[in-house]
Amino acid sequence: MDNRPIGIFDSGVGGISIWKEIRSKLPLEDTLYLADSRNAPYGEKTSREILDLSVKNTEWLLNKGCKLIVVACNTATTNAIDHLRAHYPVPFIGIEPAIKPAALGSATGKVGVLATRGTLSSKLFHSTSRNHASHIEILEQEGRGLVELIEQGKALSGETKNLIRKYLQPMLAAGIDHLVLGCTHYPHLIPLLKEELPEGIRIIDCGEAVARQTFRILEKHGLLSAEKEETTHQFYSNANHELLSHFLQGESGDIRIAYLDF
Ligand code: SIN
Repeated sequence: MDNRPIGIFDSGVGGISIWKEIRSKLPLEDTLYLADSRNAPYGEKTSREILDLSVKNTEWLLNKGCKLIVVACNTATTNAIDHLRAHYPVPFIGIEPAIKPAALGSATGKVGVLATRGTLSSKLFHSTSRNHASHIEILEQEGRGLVELIEQGKALSGETKNLIRKYLQPMLAAGIDHLVLGCTHYPHLIPLLKEELPEGIRIIDCGEAVARQTFRILEKHGLLSAEKEETTHQFYSNANHELLSHFLQGESGDIRIAYLDF
């Protein structure tokens, strides 16, 4: 048993979608979330820059005593997870676009993937597509500008809606029947996506699978938390902690949100 917190980092509020799944599947675990909003979006940075930021975030979480780290950002996972696993002594959970379930479920043989440039251009994304979806057509679409809008608190604005419409159009014209969300920020767009997507097109995100994998890895390493009265969830942001409060509205329990000069 190990009562240290699970560390989670993202380029901002995107990983909150992952945190919610982890909290629901692992109700005994304390968590520590680092939102590096000042450096968002990671998806527009070079691979080297993404790696350096991922190392910085990891070291901060490890200094705070985290027992496992969830890299709750597709772009950081695809560009840095191998390095992190090789250099730090805790287990890491990464986020990959859920291409496999989409490919298995597709009747049209066409699956759309909405992700950042940093993810779409990474080696890991290409090997995942090759391994799990060689029999189907993947329609890749870069969601340029979407992370910025979400980080500005405009996830459900008219401006965001117009961009989404533009990005979905080529995938819909090609006949996709699944849309894979390849960025942890994008689940915040699901209400708008549902308005824009014709009925029958499934939206796939990986939050639940990540929470299940986190449980499996904690169990395997003997790191699950012991029973306790209340769990603590600490959130730190280096740019807009008000936005964190917005996305955490309605969450019960000991939730602490703080600004961090980082
Ligand atoms: C970004 O910061 O560009 C998006 C993060 C992600 O890929 O999940």
